[in-house]
Parts: sequence; C-alpha cells; structure tokens
Amino acid sequence: MYFKLILISVLVLKGQCEKSFKLQQVLILSRHNVRTPLSKNLPEFTPKTWPTWKEKSGSLTAKGALLEGFMGEYFALWLKKHGLLNEDCPSEDNFFVYANTAQRTMASAEAFVTKGFPSCNVTIHNSSDSHDPIFNPVIHNTSAIFKLEAAEQMRVLLKSLHLNSSYEDLEQILNYKQSEYCLKKQKCDFVTDTNKIFVDVGFKPNVEGPLKISKSVIDSFIMENYEGFPDKEVAWGLLKNNDQWNSVLDLSKGYHSVIFNTTLIAKDIARPLISFMRDILLNKQYKITLLMGHDANIYTVLKSLDFKPFNLKHQHEMTPAGGKIVFQKWFEEKSDVTFMKVDYVYQCTNEMREGKRLSLDCPPEFTSMQLEGCKTDDNGFCLWEDFVGILNSLVED
Ligand SMILES: *[C@@H]1O[C@H](CO)[C@@H](O)[C@H](O)[C@H]1NC(C)=O
Ligand SMILES: *[C@@H]1O[C@H](CO)[C@@H](O)[C@H](O)[C@H]1NC(C)=O
Ligand SMILES: *[C@@H]1O[C@H](CO)[C@@H](O)[C@H](O)[C@H]1NC(C)=O
Ligand SMILES: *[C@@H]1O[C@H](CO)[C@@H](O)[C@H](O)[C@H]1NC(C)=O
Ligand SMILES: *[C@@H]1O[C@H](CO)[C@@H](O)[C@H](O)[C@H]1NC(C)=O
Repeated sequence: MYFKLILISVLVLKGQCEKSFKLQQVLILSRHNVRTPLSKNLPEFTPKTWPTWKEKSGSLTAKGALLEGFMGEYFALWLKKHGLLNEDCPSEDNFFVYANTAQRTMASAEAFVTKGFPSCNVTIHNSSDSHDPIFNPVIHNTSAIFKLEAAEQMRVLLKSLHLNSSYEDLEQILNYKQSEYCLKKQKCDFVTDTNKIFVDVGFKPNVEGPLKISKSVIDSFIMENYEGFPDKEVAWGLLKNNDQWNSVLDLSKGYHSVIFNTTLIAKDIARPLISFMRDILLNKQYKITLLMGHDANIYTVLKSLDFKPFNLKHQHEMTPAGGKIVFQKWFEEKSDVTFMKVDYVYQCTNEMREGKRLSLDCPPEFTSMQLEGCKTDDNGFCLWEDFVGILNSLVED
C-alpha cells in the first residue's frame, strides 16, 4: 500500500517533468480596489448614522491603494517566477496598462504599478473620453426586439430570486421603517414594494426599488468592512457571523445578477471590452497586460465568455474589490500545443480587512475558472484555439 503510494507519486512527478509548460502571455482583467460608497442617498435609508470616510464618494481609499499595491508586488514576483519578466523594468513593448478614466480605476492601476515596479517608468494608458466606451457598461443595441427580450430575461431572473428573509433582515439592520425614505415616500416594505426594470440604450441596465436600495447599503457594509472600520461601525455591529452576512449579501448578488448576468445584456455590454482583449491577445506583442475596470466589466465578461459557476472561498463578493481574472497563455514544448488557463485571483475578505501583505509564500487566492466552451483538464488548461473560437464568436456577428 505504502509502496504503491510512493510509486504513484513518482509517476505523477515524472509525468509533470516530461511536460514543460511555458507562460507566454498574461492578461489581467481587474476590478479597482476598496473605494468609498457610491450612493449619495444612503442617509435616506436609515435613521442611523453612517461611518464617515476621508475620501469623496466613489474614490479609491488609502486602504484600497495599500491592498492594490500588495497585488502589484505579488504579481511582479509571480511574473518573474514564471519568466515573463526579468529583474529590470518591463518595457513599453512588453507591458501594457490600461485603466478606465474613473479616479478609482486610475488610482488602482497607479498603486499596482508603483508598488509592483517601483523605480520603473510604466505608463498608465487611458481614454481621452471621460466615459471610455471600452469599460462603460451601457446598452448599445438599438433594436426594439433587443429591449423587449433583454428586459424579459432580467424579469425572469428577478422573479427567480428568493429574497424575502434577506429583505426582512436588512430592514431590521437599517431600522428601515423609521427611515426618511419610508416616511416621505411611503415605500416601507422591501418585500412587497416593486422593483422596476429599465433597459435603455446608452445607459446601464437598471432596477429601481428595494433591490437597488439594498445593493447600495450592502455595498457600503462591504467597503466599511474591507476598510477596517471598528466592528461596531460595520453595519452598526449587526452582521456578526457568516450566516448574517450571507443573508444580506444575497440581495447584492441578486441585484448584480439581474442587471449584468443575463446573456443578451452581458454580451451587448461586454462586446467592446472583449474585442479590445481579443485584439491584445491575438494581434499585440505585449507579454503582460493589466486592464483596470469595474465589477460591471468582470460580471459581463464572465457571463459572455460563459464560465461555469464558481465559488470564491472566504470572500463575500462574487467579484471582489481588487479581484483579477487572470488569462494565461501557456505553451507546451514537447507536444507543441498552446493552452489557455484562467484563474480568479483575489484576497479573502478577512485578509483585506487585516491588510495582509502578499508574497510568493503568502499568495492571494487562486480559483481555477472553467469555460463551458473550452474543455479544461485537471490542471486548469484548455486548448488555446477553442478559447480563441469563443472570443471570435462574441466579437464577430
Ligand atoms: C487620460 O489620458 C490623457 C492623455 O491621453 C490625460 O491627459 C488625462 O488626464 C487622462 N485622464 C485621467 C482621468 O487621468
Ligand atoms: C517616462 O515615460 C514617458 C512616456 O513614455 C516619457 O515621456 C518620460 O520621459 C519618461 N520619464 C523617464 C524619467 O524616463
Ligand atoms: C441587437 O439585438 C437583436 C435582438 O437580440 C439581435 O438580433 C441583433 O443582432 C443585435 N444587434 C447587434 C448590433 O448586436
Ligand atoms: C415573499 O413575499 C411575497 C410578498 O409577501 C409573497 O407573495 C411570496 O409568496 C413570498 N415568497 C416566499 C418564497 O415566501
Ligand atoms: C450568473 O448566473 C449563473 C446562472 O446562470 C450562476 O451560476 C453564476 O454564479 C452567476 N454569476 C455571477 C458572477 O453572479
């Protein structure tokens, strides 16, 4: 028995040695790191006082910059380890950094680059357009049929959600019945108030009503927690364990699913970004690319490419702040075959809160991602040509 085990390990090791995989190209699609809450209406939704932030609404915080710097340091080491970078600074021809024009995305890219490549002069590219069409998560398709079909897909998803007990939990946390919004607008019941769906060309898909209110306040709880506010200030100390967190997080996940996780909308929104990514992967010489965007970009790219369901351990969010979809092109010399491997690389919720520094010995989480249309082996590799086929099918037509 013991002998057999050893024999198996030797064979496995030998099998790995015979193959030699070389990392040739990496494209990192990232979400910006920790930011201040986006919604300016938060005070309407509770009689309680919200924590105060130093930075203005929607900005990367100092904590966010710290955490993104850790990611930059880690990736610089990881890229060196895999031979994509040498000790010197990456050249403009090798390393391409492109960020959305929002403060939080520009500043995240800046933090990544300045910590990862300290004395190097790395340019962060961005659009001159204040709403960069590559990252702007708005609807493009002008046809009436699209509007009808897309709204119907959203409606079906919305109806499939079971959120009553989550709504009730959140109302209690907020003391919602005493909120200004309830008292003035007479909309006092998350469970029965209506959610209205909007699909309009040039705008982000939208759901107005209790689901969006919930998303906005939970977004603040999530960011307060990452930022490291005292326990009694994060959701006023009322989210004490994972069950309580998970109950309210279902609302936030539900909202994001309704607006970004249906096929027609995801493909329509993500097409410019996927086209940009495809061009980089197929036509450009860069070995390393960092694209710094938003959760909207990650949600819609994941749905468009048709990834199988995944679970990010020890993370509250489906698309964590600072999380990265890392597309890796690997070449296997012996067989002369090229592969694609995709990992979701992110920090655990608690480690973000603690501000844990990363290194090769203390890496971020890597969750292997599988595409429906690209059969993945046990090591996470699928055929490059199948992956390219998926990209082509989304960009053409
Ligand atoms: C984007 O890049 C342009 C140069 O092309 C620069 O002038 C501008 O300030 C940048 N925008 C932001 C938001 O940093
Ligand atoms: C850094 O790069 C920019 C743009 O490529 C260039 O204009 C500038 O002179 C460089 N600065 C240094 C110190 O190398
Ligand atoms: C717009 O949506 C319709 C209906 O889904 C589809 O047939 C058409 O191809 C789309 N047009 C573009 C430009 O994507
Ligand atoms: C949720 O609450 C609504 C409104 O009270 C009710 O119609 C629905 O049946 C409830 N759903 C479940 C699963 O209990
Ligand atoms: C999107 O929806 C699918 C089901 O269609 C689900 O398995 C997946 O977890 C959702 N993805 C995200 C990022 O919410």
